[in-house]
Amino acid sequence: MIEELVEAIGQKNPRQRRPVEAALSTLHDEERRDLSAWVRHALSRGNSATSLAAAYDLVVRDTLREQVYFRRHGRYRHTSFADVASDVYFSPVYMQQYMEGLALTGFFWENHVVLRRFLLHALARLPRVRRYLEVGPGHGLHLAAAARLGCAESFEAIDLSPTSVALCNDLLTSGALGALPAVHVREADFLGADVDGPFGIVVMGEVLEHVERPDLFLVRARELLSDGGHLLCTTCIDAPAIDHIRHFRSVEEVEALLFDAGLDVIERCVLPHPGLSLAEAAAQRLAVNVGFVARTRPRA
Ligand SMILES: C[S@@+](CC[C@H](N)C(=O)[O-])C[C@H]1O[C@@H](n2cnc3c(N)ncnc32)[C@H](O)[C@@H]1O
Repeated sequence: MIEELVEAIGQKNPRQRRPVEAALSTLHDEERRDLSAWVRHALSRGNSATSLAAAYDLVVRDTLREQVYFRRHGRYRHTSFADVASDVYFSPVYMQQYMEGLALTGFFWENHVVLRRFLLHALARLPRVRRYLEVGPGHGLHLAAAARLGCAESFEAIDLSPTSVALCNDLLTSGALGALPAVHVREADFLGADVDGPFGIVVMGEVLEHVERPDLFLVRARELLSDGGHLLCTTCIDAPAIDHIRHFRSVEEVEALLFDAGLDVIERCVLPHPGLSLAEAAAQRLAVNVGFVARTRPRA
């Protein structure tokens, strides 16, 4: 199954064959099993190896195009939610391809593989909590893995894209990643949503760079967390993409937002563009992926 997908990716874009094969050779057994299970699930939902390869290629090409724009102009193409909402989040065809392609980057892009490990290892180590909330689960792979880990008694998620909500519900109820507890996935904008806390864990994977006011997102997350609760988030620096509207320029900038929201970073995962040091990536303004585990600071 994976071999068929790699073959289709190679057919679609020959330059991707070797990097994808190299990435596959580094996956742990459980990651390979998850990839196989997810591909089988996607195929059972009407995809073919060719359409999944096209989804992966869409993300690769969109990212390259935005990198070229970024190098030329020194900024991301879009800066407001309105710039991207209808073409991305509310376009069912585009969003489905995008989320499926993004799910595959979690197995094929070195930094995404490591960030996924960082998130799941942290979830496995944290004390089990009563309630877990995920914001922007997208394809739903992290959400399903968290539910499988059983890091909470109950699981909820919020995503503003109807396509993401449908993808999550499909995956969660499919049994593809094993029998999972019920997860309530809501379609809403996190900032406008009527949500009752407290939660012991809030997860935001690759969301802060997608919103106009990440500061308000983090403040809202802090409000919803119990004292002693944890926020797990990933984001990126100098990393253009079609729907990245908040351009973070340094790790410190993101950490300052977390601190100002009342969240103390207790673990970080900083991943410069593969092959570069952080200083080299910063000097060349090449992407840096970051992940944080932050604990709520007691309210004054
Ligand atoms: C890039 S995907 C991230 C998917 C997954 N969490 C990951 O780490 O790969 C971003 C997701 O956040 C959702 N999102 C963006 N803005 C949001 C908002 N204001 N409220 C809730 N979800 C939002 C998008 O619809 C999309 O599903």
